[in-house]
Amino acid sequence: MRDLFGRDFLSMADLNADELSAVLDAADGFKRSLKEGKVKRSLEGKIVALIFQKPSTRTRVSFEAAVYHLGGKPLALNASELQLGRGETIADTGRVLSRYVHAITLRTFGHHEVEELARSASVPVINALTDLEHPCQVLADLMTIRERKGQLAGLRLAYVGDGNNVANSLALGCALAGMSFTAGCPAGYEPDARTIALARSLAGPEMVRVVHDPREAVAGAHVVYTDVWTSMGQKEDQKRKRDLEPYRLDGELLSAADPEAMAMHCLPAHRGEEITDEVLDGPRSAVWDQAENRMHAQAALLDLLAGD
Ligand code: CP
Ligand code: NVA
Repeated sequence: MRDLFGRDFLSMADLNADELSAVLDAADGFKRSLKEGKVKRSLEGKIVALIFQKPSTRTRVSFEAAVYHLGGKPLALNASELQLGRGETIADTGRVLSRYVHAITLRTFGHHEVEELARSASVPVINALTDLEHPCQVLADLMTIRERKGQLAGLRLAYVGDGNNVANSLALGCALAGMSFTAGCPAGYEPDARTIALARSLAGPEMVRVVHDPREAVAGAHVVYTDVWTSMGQKEDQKRKRDLEPYRLDGELLSAADPEAMAMHCLPAHRGEEITDEVLDGPRSAVWDQAENRMHAQAALLDLLAGD
C-alpha cells in the first residue's frame, strides 16, 4: 500500500482496493478505540479547515467531532463569509489556508473546484461533497455494510432513484470493494457516464450495470440504497418528481431484493418521497449507523492523511 500521508481525497477512485480496505480497517479501529476511551490524539496541535458552499448537518458535525476526538482544532467556515464568497479565487484561498492549517475539506458545486483547491494547497484536501461525488459518505457506507454483512466482496448493491453524486461514488466504491453495483434510474437520470466507465474499468463491465426498471435493479440485491430526487443546487420541479415516482424505496420494492437486504440512505431524507417511513424506520434500515460511521470513517481518513 502507498503511504496515504499528505495525499488528497477528492474521489473514491483516489484509493486503490488495498488502500480502501486499510481506511475501512482504520475506521473500525477508531470506532473501537473511541468506545474504549483510547483514541490516539494524532491531530494534537493541528488545525483542519472545513469549508462549506452548501448546507450540511452530518458532514460538518461529524468532521468537527472527528477532529476534536483526534485532539485537533476544527475550523468550520461558511464560504459566504470568506473572501471566497466575494470573488477571491479558490487557488489563492488554497495557498493562504495552507500557511495556517494542516488539512482542508471543501463542500461545493463543481468538482473542478475541489481539484483546483487540491492543486493550489500544499496540505491534504478532502472532498466533502461536490455535484459529481460524495466519497466520504461512501467510506461510511462501505464500513456500515461490512459491519452488518461481515464482508464486502461478492455482495450486490442496488441504487434506485436519481443517479447523483452519491450514486457515482457508490459505483466506484463498489468496484474497488469487489461488490456489484446496479443503478435503477429513469432515462435521463443515470449516474455520470465517465464515472460508470471508470468503475467498469476497475471491476469489469459485468460488475457495474445501469438499468431503467427499479425491480430489475433490486432483484437479489443485498443492499438497496436511495437518495433524494433533487440534490443541492438542482431545481426541484414536478417533472423530476413524476419521472422518479416509480423509483420510491417502499416496502414493496425492498421485498423484491434479497430477504435479508439492508436499506440505506445517506440522509437528509425527504420522507414519503424517495423513501417511505416504513423503510427508513424499519428493521432493515441502516441509516443511523451510516450517519454515525461518517465520524469514524473521517477520523480514520484524517489520521491517515494528516495525523502524526
Ligand atoms: N449525508 C450528508 O452528507 O449529510 P449532510 O448534507 O447533512 O452533511
Ligand atoms: N445527493 C445529495 C446528497 C446530500 C448529502 C445532495 O447532493 O444534495
